[in-house]
Amino acid sequence: TKRIRLRSDSIIQDKELQEAAALLRQGEVVAFPTETVYGLGANALDSEACAKIYAVKGRPSDNPLIVHVAALDEAQQLVRVWPPQAEVCARNFWPGPLTLVLPKRAHIPEIVSGGLDTVAVRMPSHPVALALIEAAGCPLAAPSANISGKPSPTNAEHVWRDLKGKIPLLIDAGSCTVGLESTVLDLTGELPTILRPGGITLEQLRAVLGKVELDRSADQGQPTVEPRSPGMKYRHYAPEGEIILFSGSTSEKAEKMTKYLRNKNNAVRTAVLCLEETVARLTGDTAGKADMIFTLGSRNNLDSAASRLFEGLRLCDEQNIDTILAEEIAEEGIGLAFMNRLKKAAGKKNFGPGSRYPNLTET
Ligand code: TXA
Ligand code: MG
Repeated sequence: TKRIRLRSDSIIQDKELQEAAALLRQGEVVAFPTETVYGLGANALDSEACAKIYAVKGRPSDNPLIVHVAALDEAQQLVRVWPPQAEVCARNFWPGPLTLVLPKRAHIPEIVSGGLDTVAVRMPSHPVALALIEAAGCPLAAPSANISGKPSPTNAEHVWRDLKGKIPLLIDAGSCTVGLESTVLDLTGELPTILRPGGITLEQLRAVLGKVELDRSADQGQPTVEPRSPGMKYRHYAPEGEIILFSGSTSEKAEKMTKYLRNKNNAVRTAVLCLEETVARLTGDTAGKADMIFTLGSRNNLDSAASRLFEGLRLCDEQNIDTILAEEIAEEGIGLAFMNRLKKAAGKKNFGPGSRYPNLTET
């Protein structure tokens, strides 16, 4: 795997960007940055190229891909209908972390749509992503550039660890600013429905669309329904260790964690994954009993906490952590997507036989 570093202000002339675009036109896969997470891209209109994505990631073939575009008319050419709601969404949130599910046109390969009659489309805002799509001259199908089941990659090092040797090229443009994946919004039903919470919040969508539903399988509140977004049924974002969630006020969470750390078996490697206000309330001697403390930043800046979540989960794996003590945050604003990922990451306890969510598949 070749790794190239691009500065986002010099990309248009970059010879290496042209090299990446040429690989994509030849039917190869390329890992590239977006504002949400790194993507593993291929020409969305070339089913053999897209098949490579599934092979590299070890991804189940019924889990469809998001098609990334750099212009509005490019998005419109992928779909049979472009409803007024799509126009409103595109005008307000594109380029940006919002994916729209719409009826697909026939020329989109079945492998991209996972056999569904719809296609998921997004215009990313990262300048390198936009320049790459333009240079390639085709829409790019791209899932997150991680091995299936791992936390999504939010910097090039994460991609390198997962995919080194498996892909010809990785474009490194530093860390992703959003750090959680895009919101997936289904516009094929009566009401716009969030299938996966993400970088654009439910509140932001309601402000411009009026009524917006949250798919019951997306918030994990009603886990017995079959998810409409196929990817949501798989165990995801999961570190090796077991995650224990702590709820309540900042001081309640800190108190419960302190108690847990005091009584823990010292042979069990334990990490704390928390906001700094919570960490500050762990008493000195108890904090010392944790093998790792990963601070997500201040509770006054939850966007920043969201952008650091996957990094924290990956670091726990690197440090061979057995148990991760993580705090819950309110499920509003970006907190809805944050908690969706954190609960999924805690899936070992929550999914599978004998768990709270017996009907969801583990992969
Ligand atoms: O932020 C993102 O969306 C990143 C970056 C690279 O753009 N991509 C990403 O892709 O997260 P991926 O493949 O990891 O997740 C795509 C999600 C899955 O949950 C998938 O099931 C859903 O979108 N999806 C794709 N096409 C769909 C469709 N036609 N109908 C319903 N859900 C769909
Ligand atoms: Mg993914």
